[in-house]
Amino acid sequence: MRAAYIKEYGNEEKLIVGDVPAPSVGDNQVLIKVKGAGINPIDWLIRDGFLAEQNVHTLPIILGWDAAGIVLQRGRNVTDLDIGQAVYVYAPIHEQGTYSEYISVDSQYVAAIPQSLDLLTAAAVPLAASTAWQALTQGCQLKSGDKVLIHNASGGVGSFAVQIAKALGAYVIATASAKNRDFVIGLGADEFIDYRTQNFEQLTQNLDAVLVAVGGDDLVSRSLNVIKAGGYLVSLLDEIDEQLAKAKNIHYQRWMVMPNADDLKDISALIDAGQIKVHIDRVFKLDQIKEAHILSQSKRARGKIIINMST
Ligand SMILES: NC(=O)c1ccc[n+]([C@@H]2O[C@H](COP(=O)([O-])OP(=O)(O)OC[C@H]3O[C@@H](n4cnc5c(N)ncnc54)[C@H](OP(=O)(O)O)[C@@H]3O)[C@@H](O)[C@H]2O)c1
Repeated sequence: MRAAYIKEYGNEEKLIVGDVPAPSVGDNQVLIKVKGAGINPIDWLIRDGFLAEQNVHTLPIILGWDAAGIVLQRGRNVTDLDIGQAVYVYAPIHEQGTYSEYISVDSQYVAAIPQSLDLLTAAAVPLAASTAWQALTQGCQLKSGDKVLIHNASGGVGSFAVQIAKALGAYVIATASAKNRDFVIGLGADEFIDYRTQNFEQLTQNLDAVLVAVGGDDLVSRSLNVIKAGGYLVSLLDEIDEQLAKAKNIHYQRWMVMPNADDLKDISALIDAGQIKVHIDRVFKLDQIKEAHILSQSKRARGKIIINMST
């Protein structure tokens, strides 16, 4: 089967598109014919060697951990998914990835795609939307009426986070570049801050929660200044000294998204209810995987990047 993989860590030139053996199917797994695979920053971070010292992977490794496709085969213990069903998954990152014609994945991570989405669009959802969902509902304990600041709102995670926060009934203040103002307001943000020309600390105070995705610019520690005592701060990348948050009685967590089919079911319901729209920056062919990584590495994508595995 065709797949995009690496044999050694490094830049996008290390990506190889070629034939690899198809996976076998374990008793608790389903074999999925992949239609689309999402691109996420973790893909090129792992490609660069971000997890190399932790020995998470044995090379060669197929990259990519989002997929949508059709169930072709079920392991003998799998009863909750049907052959021929359209499904999507955020697959565990310690396993072989999804830039691949076929994947085998534990059924506990797999859910039906939203009825209102085609398979390719569905591939844009699992990892980024699960991250936003878990970070807001668990990490930030967000509830109706809360006031939340979402940094990096125009990216993959941010664009889902703004919509999920609105669906939860929160008042949303969102930051991005000026060129993305209309996009972010269109997602439902109540207020927009252009982080390049405006200082969020002068414009917001007394917040219930802050979500920092891309980070940089000391965004995580600076966000401590705008959260009320007892509030929540979640970072998806940058770390701060927990004591800084404790001193202000702020619940701080560096969140790591976990694969979870129940979360995907909740997200599917919001998509089918029209409360989350999926925004795709660009679709690439598998042969264009290097270009797709270069766009993701630019950190300038608006919404999601996906690979169409059928082209
Ligand atoms: N911990 C976890 O479990 C987890 C899970 C998923 C993602 N992440 C991390 O979360 C981050 C976001 O992921 P993503 O998929 O949303 O990435 P993404 O789609 O590549 O994010 C792109 C967005 O980042 C914004 N941005 C880039 N540089 C910025 C800067 N210096 N200051 C403020 N905003 C900046 C851009 O906004 P403008 O173009 O509007 O400036 C762009 O829209 C990544 O760092 C990723 O590694 C972590």
